[in-house]
Amino acid sequence: MAGVTDAAYRQLTKELAPDAVVYSEFLSTDAIHYGAKKTMGMMHFDPEKERPFIVQIFGKDPEHFLSAAKVVEEMGADGIDINMGCPAARVTSSCHGSALMKNPELACELVRSAKEAVKIPVSVKTRLGWDSSDELIPFCKGLVEAGADALAIHGRTYHQKYSGQADWEPIYKLKEEVSIPVIGNGDVKNAQDAIDKLGNLDGVMIGRGTFGNPWVMKDICKALKSGDTHSTIDEMPFKEKIPLILHHCELAVELKGEKRGMLEMRKHLASYVKGIDGAKELRARLVRVETFDDVKEILIKLQS
Ligand SMILES: Cc1cc2nc3c(=O)[nH]c(=O)nc-3n(C[C@H](O)[C@H](O)[C@H](O)COP(=O)(O)O)c2cc1C
Repeated sequence: MAGVTDAAYRQLTKELAPDAVVYSEFLSTDAIHYGAKKTMGMMHFDPEKERPFIVQIFGKDPEHFLSAAKVVEEMGADGIDINMGCPAARVTSSCHGSALMKNPELACELVRSAKEAVKIPVSVKTRLGWDSSDELIPFCKGLVEAGADALAIHGRTYHQKYSGQADWEPIYKLKEEVSIPVIGNGDVKNAQDAIDKLGNLDGVMIGRGTFGNPWVMKDICKALKSGDTHSTIDEMPFKEKIPLILHHCELAVELKGEKRGMLEMRKHLASYVKGIDGAKELRARLVRVETFDDVKEILIKLQS
């Protein structure tokens, strides 16, 4: 997730849930093609701590897909995922992300380009369709023919953006029609949701449910492995969460430096305190922190 799944977040997730597959933020194939410094930095990962690691790419130029895919493979990623689901106006207006659902030929060409360039698996993340879920099966069959190794489907159309409830029924139907792994996505907030929604699919993908609650990944992985949906997190008092929150800050500082690391931690810190007593006042202070010591000073008082 853009602005969220940086290396610190991925490492934290893997510490809590070693079985999880982690993805990079979505990265522009144009930027990778031209070797843009910021994007190359966002691709950096720790192979000891972040495997399996999938780099998600977006774009529309097949040649840039070819060269970007090569770069991703050379830097050691375990897979490439192509974003055909982002509904943001700045993305779709340049025919990137979910706009590719309106251009199936180009979408397939992009898959073919990436596949031609690398040996690692190439998957696609997309939505139910642009206007309607009737588009899902024909669109995805084309991607499979073009060589896609797996599909992850967010159960909303482009037009729905993030409104309403994700509809997983069309995803189950898709799974019956294709022979590659299909992962479902949308509105999984806890282990019970993951078990209830898995159906005939090969996995579930979690986004917003982890905001301020990375522990949920541990619950979900345990549930998918053993069927045990008992949550250890729901009962965890906030003060027991503080060491991990501080560890998240430590990772952010280590990987991005204190200034940028703490700036980027602000949104996570605001999510961590959501729902606890005094959250409003705490959030107001946490979104202004500049140093790791600022965070420690605020949170350590809550531990007593
Ligand atoms: C802040 C934010 C950033 C996101 N960035 C990405 C992204 O880079 N790539 C992607 O495939 N989906 C991205 N998504 C979409 C999520 O991966 C996911 O498909 C969507 O939120 C629905 O799943 P959820 O209900 O588990 O969050 C993003 C969502 C949010 C809220």
